[in-house]
Amino acid sequence: MIERLFQQNVAWAKAKTAQDPEYFMRLSRLQAPKYLWIGCSDSRVPADAITGLQPGEIFVHRNVANLAHPADLNYLSVLQFAIDGLKVEHVIVCGHYGCGGVRAAVERSQHGLIDNWLQPIRDTAERNAAELEAIPEETERLKRLCELSVIRQVGRVCEATPVQDAWLRGQTLSVHGWVYGLEDGLLRSLNCSRSGIA
Ligand code: CO
Repeated sequence: MIERLFQQNVAWAKAKTAQDPEYFMRLSRLQAPKYLWIGCSDSRVPADAITGLQPGEIFVHRNVANLAHPADLNYLSVLQFAIDGLKVEHVIVCGHYGCGGVRAAVERSQHGLIDNWLQPIRDTAERNAAELEAIPEETERLKRLCELSVIRQVGRVCEATPVQDAWLRGQTLSVHGWVYGLEDGLLRSLNCSRSGIA
């Protein structure tokens, strides 16, 4: 089963080189992506495939339930390098409906270590309890929680030092919140984009 990945890799590299003999040489010298994607680890939400982007065009950070923890050195390092080093112009926080992380966050049962990771989602659920409790259907309620969590993470990204510093020095940078539908393959904007200090 694992051998198949090497076979597919060789076939892919051959096909790319046949189309464009300079492809890998050119890509190996430079990456100049305009976008940073902060998305869920879910295997059904591949950033480049669903946005139609090629290798080299989107810098990607993924974790369970697409969270922007203010003390997560991994996420902060990616964010800083994307903004200061690569000069990306757009940071996209993308959640998805049917997210297992969002569901697990608000289930009564315990899941171990991941419950700590998912704490910001419970926090978002508590902050928006009135709106969420007014939605009778559970699937719809969880969909709304997916959206609210993305909006909250956009706020956290905007508060992060690399973003604040970029805006203070006048660098072009927008932060967006999107949600992806597993059932229709479509992205939706949550209309919470920001392009400067509020
Ligand atoms: Co997910």
